[in-house]
Amino acid sequence: MNPTRLIVCVNQRLGAGQKSCAGSGSKELIEVIKKNFKASGVDVPVVEQVCLGRCAEGIAMRIAPGGQFFTQVNKADVTLITEAVKKFSENI
Ligand code: FES
Repeated sequence: MNPTRLIVCVNQRLGAGQKSCAGSGSKELIEVIKKNFKASGVDVPVVEQVCLGRCAEGIAMRIAPGGQFFTQVNKADVTLITEAVKKFSENI
C-alpha cells in the first residue's frame, strides 16, 4: 500500500495575537484539498495533525513520509499541492 499522505495542521491557538492554522482556515482548506484530490484522481489521505511547529507561517502542511513542507498555504495553492502530492505518490 502506498504510504503517501498529506498532513495538515489543524491547531487552534487561543492566545491574543497568536497565529494558528485553524485560525487561518485550515479545516475549510482541507475540504477544498480533498475535493481537488478526488477530481484529480489523487487517492491519498489527508491527515489532520495538531501543530507542525510552523505556527507563524501557517497554514502549514507537509507531504509524508519525508516530503515537501508548505507554509502560508491558501486556496490558490491547492492545484500546486495536488500536483506535488500526485508526483510524490507516483515516485515513492
Ligand atoms: S498552529 Fe499550525 S503549525 Fe502550529
